[in-house]
Amino acid sequence: MTIGILGLGHMGSALLEGFLNADSPYSHELAIYTRNAEILDGYASRYPVTPVQSASELAEKCDLIILAVSAPAILAVLAEIKPMLKPETLIVSVGSKVTLQQMYDVTQSAHLTRIIPNIPVRTNSGISLLSSADHEANIQKITDVFSTLGTVYPIPEEKLEVGSVITGCSPAFYALFIEALADGAVKYGLSREEAYALAIASASSTGDYLSAQQITPSTLKDQVASPGGTTIKGIAALEEHGLRNSVIQALDAICKPQ
Ligand SMILES: NC(=O)c1ccc[n+]([C@@H]2O[C@H](COP(=O)([O-])OP(=O)(O)OC[C@H]3O[C@@H](n4cnc5c(N)ncnc54)[C@H](OP(=O)(O)O)[C@@H]3O)[C@@H](O)[C@H]2O)c1
Repeated sequence: MTIGILGLGHMGSALLEGFLNADSPYSHELAIYTRNAEILDGYASRYPVTPVQSASELAEKCDLIILAVSAPAILAVLAEIKPMLKPETLIVSVGSKVTLQQMYDVTQSAHLTRIIPNIPVRTNSGISLLSSADHEANIQKITDVFSTLGTVYPIPEEKLEVGSVITGCSPAFYALFIEALADGAVKYGLSREEAYALAIASASSTGDYLSAQQITPSTLKDQVASPGGTTIKGIAALEEHGLRNSVIQALDAICKPQ
């Protein structure tokens, strides 16, 4: 199966690098297009991929097209490639906000899927949320492809936007928290390198522990916050400064209808 990646910004390049990693069976069947020739040539010179000269050429060559262009450009790009699509071409959009129905209105394709990946697909440890209007056999093919980049979670389209905040946006939120923890550690004498190393390792080990123990975050918090101890004092300070409310407001800012 030839996979075409259209758009090589942050997400397009993360998907490309994930597929190229040694153990991906799709690493020799990749075609790429982005309208910036310098970026396209840069990738083509570094990686064993086939660069093409237009979105339409990509559509003509590929069995599966991944649209990794900015969300406002998705429908225009679909309209551009429509004449070159084969009836069986699988189309996957990784953009938020543009619905399967809107994609259908432009393409009349029976093979439309939305996948919201997160940036760790670059290291094959991503999470990809999947909503599809295609039939089961094609959903399985697409799931197989994206499973090489991490875990794929099917989700009804009406839950995709909020789900994608939790998986797609939250790496930036966690990064902010890790950076803030490290800043505090530097304030109290750790070197910047030590602070980042410890904060990152703790974030990973916390996620692993929650998954392995199958416990709620609140149970974990209670295990760590001993009566009268240091952790509960830190939690009280975080709440006094509105941590929980800040996070909920972040979701309001993204998810509330404008
Ligand atoms: N970044 C993430 O973590 C993340 C997570 C989940 C989903 N996504 C989705 O991934 C998509 C890309 O996001 P990104 O973060 O990679 O953005 P980005 O870094 O800004 O890259 C956007 C890409 O789209 C291309 N593009 C924009 N308009 C185009 C057009 N009319 N025709 C052809 N190409 C066009 C850009 O090409 P030029 O360089 O020529 O402008 C660039 O390659 C978005 O739909 C976003 O919702 C991103």
